[in-house]
Amino acid sequence: MGVVTKVLAVSVVLIAIWFGFFARQYAAGGAVNPEWLNRSLAGRTAIVTGGNAGIGFITAKQLAKQGATVIIASRDEKRAKEAVASINNETNSNLAEFVHPLDLSSFRSVRDFVEKVKDRKIDYLINNAGVMIPPHAQTEDGFEIQFQTNHLSHFLVRLVLLANACSSPNCY
Ligand SMILES: NC(=O)c1ccc[n+]([C@@H]2O[C@H](COP(=O)([O-])OP(=O)(O)OC[C@H]3O[C@@H](n4cnc5c(N)ncnc54)[C@H](OP(=O)(O)O)[C@@H]3O)[C@@H](O)[C@H]2O)c1
Repeated sequence: MGVVTKVLAVSVVLIAIWFGFFARQYAAGGAVNPEWLNRSLAGRTAIVTGGNAGIGFITAKQLAKQGATVIIASRDEKRAKEAVASINNETNSNLAEFVHPLDLSSFRSVRDFVEKVKDRKIDYLINNAGVMIPPHAQTEDGFEIQFQTNHLSHFLVRLVLLANACSSPNCY
């Protein structure tokens, strides 16, 4: 075997190892430092959009486990209250709460929701809720529904909360 062939063979093996390492990391998903999951969040308040289901629900439960008050921001009051009951039951606390429905496909709903939480000091805003490739539709505000739900409304929640916080002693 010539030198060039040997170098090529070694390069291929090294690239395969390198690729395998990153593919394994990617497939394993995001890593969380276990220490973070034991850190006390007592006295903190979080809003989790879409906190009634999926990743949002798991996130909300973890925050409550660590002692944070968690506002479940959901468009469906019944499902939000079920999530609140489930989290409070599992964490043996009253840390999860439902304040007001939040439908991210409507700016009016966003403003109504923020109005109800604007006097709270919000430490964490988890912009989790989202839809993926729904049938094409326009919202009442004239935007494509996925764009408004996943992006525009979350910006609006943040902007209005920030504007309110910065006109109060809660500004940071
Ligand atoms: N799971 C994945 O592999 C993956 C990958 C990439 C990105 N993501 C993103 O991660 C986020 C959570 O994913 P997931 O798997 O937990 O999704 P999921 O189980 O489908 O949950 C989505 C959540 O968003 C809420 N939601 C949808 N439209 C809403 C609206 N107009 N107003 C308020 N809430 C609304 C849902 O509420 P309802 O129960 O009322 O429908 C639900 O609570 C999503 O934004 C998703 O796009 C997920």
